[in-house]
Amino acid sequence: MELVTVRSWDAEIGSDAYGRLEAGNILFYPGVPIEFSEDDRQFLLSQRQTDAPYHKNIAYRPREDSLTGTARGSDAERLRRIMRSFTEQTVRLLTRGLARYAASWRLDYASFRPCEEAGRSLRLHARNDLLHFDAFPTRPTHGDRILRFFVNLNPEKPRVWLTTDPFPELADRFAAAAGLSRRAKRGRSPLARLGRKIGFGRPPYDAIMHRFHNFLKENAEFQRACSKQQWIFPPQSSWLVLTDMVSHAVLSGQMALEQTFIVARRSMLKPELAPAAVLERLIGLPVIWGEK
Ligand code: SIN
Ligand code: FE
Repeated sequence: MELVTVRSWDAEIGSDAYGRLEAGNILFYPGVPIEFSEDDRQFLLSQRQTDAPYHKNIAYRPREDSLTGTARGSDAERLRRIMRSFTEQTVRLLTRGLARYAASWRLDYASFRPCEEAGRSLRLHARNDLLHFDAFPTRPTHGDRILRFFVNLNPEKPRVWLTTDPFPELADRFAAAAGLSRRAKRGRSPLARLGRKIGFGRPPYDAIMHRFHNFLKENAEFQRACSKQQWIFPPQSSWLVLTDMVSHAVLSGQMALEQTFIVARRSMLKPELAPAAVLERLIGLPVIWGEK
């Protein structure tokens, strides 16, 4: 795995960069291509979030223009305005830079991560210091891709990540142990078909991805023994990654911004590399409703 440096966001990236992103590499930009006034930047750096354990980050929902997870007594209205501007600027930037994806993407949540990541006490499945692929239990993607744009806003401290093997290797290695085929079969049972008709239940793809996310975090031996690469994202830098394909964990860092996009699988340059295609080859069954 490698960092592929993008020198400018003034034009769409080339097919080589798309190909490398989709093959499980990280697109890195040595700067913050988002503008904040000095006042707003200082305001962000002074933020803390609520201690409530169910709020892992401060989340901004662009469609509702709403914010969750802010600390009591903080100026939530100002933070909401700044997050709105972050989302708008990111959309503008990447609509140009990733035009191929922008044609079909759905704008998902943004987040502000003001906590120090080292030593956080979160419940096991919410821990981000354990290697995992992202999966959203409440927002099924139906095989579409999770693309995340991260900004390390911290003026001094890097954000440190670990990665291990990408999705195809780990899915192949753990398919049986994690019960991935079983979930694909369950998604085709008469009960699941009935559920689908009445609008109940999750597509097999999302059930499999969520199971795999939990399986990896629960597997202490894997977390200890797997081969690891460390990535140090410097202060004031940004990066883009398909987090359903790239295993990742954050070890330390404080004050990151992040915007998520759900990109349709059909707009990939190499749709055959998508986790849904990998799973279908591995399991020998369709994992998306309505396909095949
Ligand atoms: C994650 O998506 O697991 C966390 C990444 C980060 O906050 O840097
Ligand atoms: Fe993650």
